[in-house]
Amino acid sequence: MKILVVGTGAREHAIVHALAAETPDGAAHELHAAPGNPGIGREAALHPVDANDGAAVAALAQELRVDLVVVGPEAPLVAGVADAVAAAGFPVFGPTAAAAQLEGSKAYAKDVMAAAGVPTALAHVCTTIDEVAAALDAFGAPYVVKDDGLAAGKGVVVTSDRDAALEHAREALAARGDAGRVVVEAYLDGPEVSVFVISDGTHVVPLQPAQDFKRIFDLDEGPNTGGMGAYSPLDWAPAGLVDEVVERIAQPTVDEMARRGTPFAGVLYVGLALTSRGTRVVEFNARFGDPETQVVLARLQTPLSRVLLASATGGLGELEPLRWSPSPVVNVVVASHGYPGTVRNGDVITGIADAEALDGVHVLHAGTALTADGALVAAGGRVLSVIAEGETLDAARDRAYEGVALIGLDGSQHRTDIALKAARGEIAVPTTL
Ligand code: GLY
Repeated sequence: MKILVVGTGAREHAIVHALAAETPDGAAHELHAAPGNPGIGREAALHPVDANDGAAVAALAQELRVDLVVVGPEAPLVAGVADAVAAAGFPVFGPTAAAAQLEGSKAYAKDVMAAAGVPTALAHVCTTIDEVAAALDAFGAPYVVKDDGLAAGKGVVVTSDRDAALEHAREALAARGDAGRVVVEAYLDGPEVSVFVISDGTHVVPLQPAQDFKRIFDLDEGPNTGGMGAYSPLDWAPAGLVDEVVERIAQPTVDEMARRGTPFAGVLYVGLALTSRGTRVVEFNARFGDPETQVVLARLQTPLSRVLLASATGGLGELEPLRWSPSPVVNVVVASHGYPGTVRNGDVITGIADAEALDGVHVLHAGTALTADGALVAAGGRVLSVIAEGETLDAARDRAYEGVALIGLDGSQHRTDIALKAARGEIAVPTTL
């Protein structure tokens, strides 16, 4: 197949990497990326096309005569890139702009959840700072304030500091003028889990769960990031979790979206908290999560192209049961100096080949660039994902951190406790009340 992947991150690199490993009819796929990054460029042809420009992506699909377009990030989806590609007559993995509102608007997602009977946190949609203050006081600490719209991973604040919660709300409201809205929610206790569910608008097929580490520092301290690491599988999660997600969350949501005339095809990212009151949805996203995709796809043994094409063409009902590697996989993210604040770009990156020479280790690129003289440098907040597979979670962690130790990047940061609690058996799911 000829496949075009849209986006620039480690998630898109993970998708390209998985597709590059496939030889469905004995022949490799022909892979293209727009615009991609230097790591993706080792496995696919890069095209300097703006990922958010639907007309340009559709024109590229036309020029290449691709069999499938895969739209990775949320911004192009919300901007209607999948719509433009579909209108040009190409199968596309990723929801329409209307369906991507499940991520584009937290208030819209809450409305769909309520209509579909999906268990989630109580919430107030607020348009003034007085409403926010009242909602914060109604729920009490810890406070959860979410920008209604896309905010490049900076839209959610969870804090026990009421002033900080109000300040985030004030900034989010001001940033969108008259359209400013924030969602104030009740805090959900318990460990968080990400489950990706593939849909073709009617059927749903769940992938294996993963866990993300959102805070910048060890022990979940410091500000939120896009995600500093992940691992899968989750041996500690309840046995019936994925079935519960399908039955109580994903299928009712997909049914509700179809009922509204905005069928959701693509991947529904179900962010969950396993609380003392049961499983609750923390958030929906309309695309694969990053950094969880890097570990989930590393374990998927069914050809990814088959899954993505079935979603794009309405064939999920006929897809064979997915096959998975039982081996644990760990992803440790290497981030730039200053992340998640103002990052320093241009520092030279070394050691990737040495890390990849380790057994079971591969490195995916996110914020990287090549200079005119061919040096690989940091060019973003999250720079690399170091992925390692092992026979046990401990072994996978050890290898991932061995790989990270070989990466050279001045001022870089990484967490040292990715998957540590799980490896030590220290994660407890609260007893349901
Ligand atoms: N892992 C968080 C996200 O992709 O939004």
